[in-house]
Parts: sequence; structure tokens; C-alpha cells
Amino acid sequence: MASIPLRLKDHSYDVLIGPGVRTSLAEVVGRLGAGRAVVVSARPREWVPDTGVDTLFLPARDGERAKTLGTVERLCGEFVRFGLTRSDVVVSCGGGTTTDVVGLAAALYHRGVAVVHLPTTLLAQVDASVGGKTAVNLPAGKNLVGAYWQPSAVLCDTDYLSTLPRRELLNGYGEIARCHFIGAPDLRALPPAEQIAASVALKARVVEADERDAGPRHILNYGHTLGHALELATGFALRHGEAVAVGTVFAGRLAGALGRIGGERVAEHHDVVRAYGLPAALPAETEPAELVRLMRHDKKALSGLTFVLDGPKGVELVYDVPPELVTRVLDRMPRAPLAELVGDAQPAATPDTARS
Ligand code: GLY
Repeated sequence: MASIPLRLKDHSYDVLIGPGVRTSLAEVVGRLGAGRAVVVSARPREWVPDTGVDTLFLPARDGERAKTLGTVERLCGEFVRFGLTRSDVVVSCGGGTTTDVVGLAAALYHRGVAVVHLPTTLLAQVDASVGGKTAVNLPAGKNLVGAYWQPSAVLCDTDYLSTLPRRELLNGYGEIARCHFIGAPDLRALPPAEQIAASVALKARVVEADERDAGPRHILNYGHTLGHALELATGFALRHGEAVAVGTVFAGRLAGALGRIGGERVAEHHDVVRAYGLPAALPAETEPAELVRLMRHDKKALSGLTFVLDGPKGVELVYDVPPELVTRVLDRMPRAPLAELVGDAQPAATPDTARS
């Protein structure tokens, strides 16, 4: 078992990673001194271990559609009926959408009650459940209402992962692949628990340096500017991690086109992404002009097009990248039909003849 500490000025916690770590829940709840717990779970009741205290179990649904203020209101209403107080605890069990919405309910209820996350997907274990970002969606867009609310512990039980379909695992590997370029070099040959631990350790150090996203934390969004645009352009047919993988390949090519990195490093982006079996090509159905339009709306874009890019000084936020260059690099990306990119076979992308 690995235990990764995350130390902030006024709040610290550990992320436990390994088989069976969910059974530490009762100990964590005991340490918090909570008298009651509400467990909100998108997984069957038997997936959630005993909390050791009087517990209300509420079923949840994973998925963006459940990430609404209405869900937060319903959860808080149940907390009131159960008599949950600020010295009690909320436990989330599920994927990243569940840890996001339950985390926000915990942040708002009585102006903040302790929350423990039991992430059950690879994506939630390596990213969503760690670092304190919570949010719900509005009809106008994803994650538009949220709060920073750090958990009191995160229990990444790797036993949960054996139940995941291959595409759901790939969804998490998109975030692991991008770690290669932001400070956790080559995780490809490691066993999954070590890949998760290394990704979480990297994220913990970044969050410790910049909890509120004022600067350094942006590096976690490597590959995400195009990734978010691809999710939207494909109506979420491309999953987050898959889209980030394509975005990572693009980020390498764009950094190469800007003269920030050499050809070998550009090629490394493609090779790392493909080594995880992730898509590396643009869906043939997407239009570069539409992707550029969507990228202009990225949260990081204060003006013009903004990307997190590799370079001589390491990874940094690069503002005002000329749209013509972005379009040219997109035009030169390998392309493959969406169905082929997300299919089980994961064939290699169109041969890469236009590395720049
Ligand atoms: N998922 C990016 C972050 O936590 O900042």
C-alpha cells in the first residue's frame, strides 16, 4: 500500500492507494471524531465498507447529468433529515462526477463538513478525487459552479479497478499519460498501483504549491485545451481521458511548431500516448476551425488561444498562440474515424507523416 501525503497550510490529508484500502474507512471516520456518516454511493452498498458509526446510505448516479445544483440541494436535504452536523462526515463512493458533486455538497452543507472520497474509477483515483476541486455543471457549461474543498482522506482501492471495462480504464490512462510530460517521467512499465501512486504524488506536489489554481496548477491541464474542445465537438463520444490523450499529442506538435521542443520530444508525445493504447489522432469528423472556436472558450484563455506547453524551461502556460499556427498544426494531425479511435481494437492512428 502507498500513502501519499498532501500537506496544505491549514489542512493535510493522506491518499491511500492499494488493494483493500477502503477498509481503512472506519479508522479514518474514527480519527475525525464523527458520530454519524452519510455515504453517497454510485456503486452497490456492498462496495462501501463499514464506517463504524451510525450511517445513512444514499444511492447516486455517476455521470455529468447528475452533476447539478439540484443534486446538491437534494443531498443537503437528506443530510438535514438525517441530522448530520458539522462534526460528522460525508463519504463519496464512485467516479469523478460523484466525488465532484458530493464534494460540493460537503463544502456547502453547514458551510463545510468533512468528506472522504472512495474513488472507484482510474480517472477519479489519479485526478478527480485528489486536490479539492468540486463542482457541478450549469446548462451553460461544465464545472461552472464549484468550490475548493479538500477531503479528509482519499482511499484509492485498486480492487475497484478490476471491475472496469477497458474503455473506462483508458479514460484514466489519458491522465496518467500526460504525467510523463509534467513531472512524472515514464510510468509505462510500472504496475497500475505504482502508476496511480506516482500520478497522485505528482498532483499532490502541484496542489501543495498552488491550491487555488493561481499558476503552477495549470500544468495539470496539459493536453486539456484541445481535449475539452474534442469532448464538446464529439458530444462526449470521446471520453475525457481519450480526448486528453489526443490533446497531449497535439500539445507536443504545437510546442514543436513554436520551436519550443525538438522533433524527438514531439515524437515522444505520440509514442507515450500510443503505448497506453490511447487514441493519438483527431476524429475525422471534427473540423479544425470548429476546434479553434471551442478552444477560445477555454477557462485558461484570458485572451486569444492559451495552451500548457513543454519548452526549454519546462512546462508553462503559453498565451496568445496565433490561431493560424494552431489551425495548421491541427490540419497536419493524423486523423481517423471516431468509431475506429474509440473501438476496442485501438488500431494505430493514420501513419504520422507530418511531424513538425
Ligand atoms: N484536474 C485538474 C486539477 O485538479 O487542477
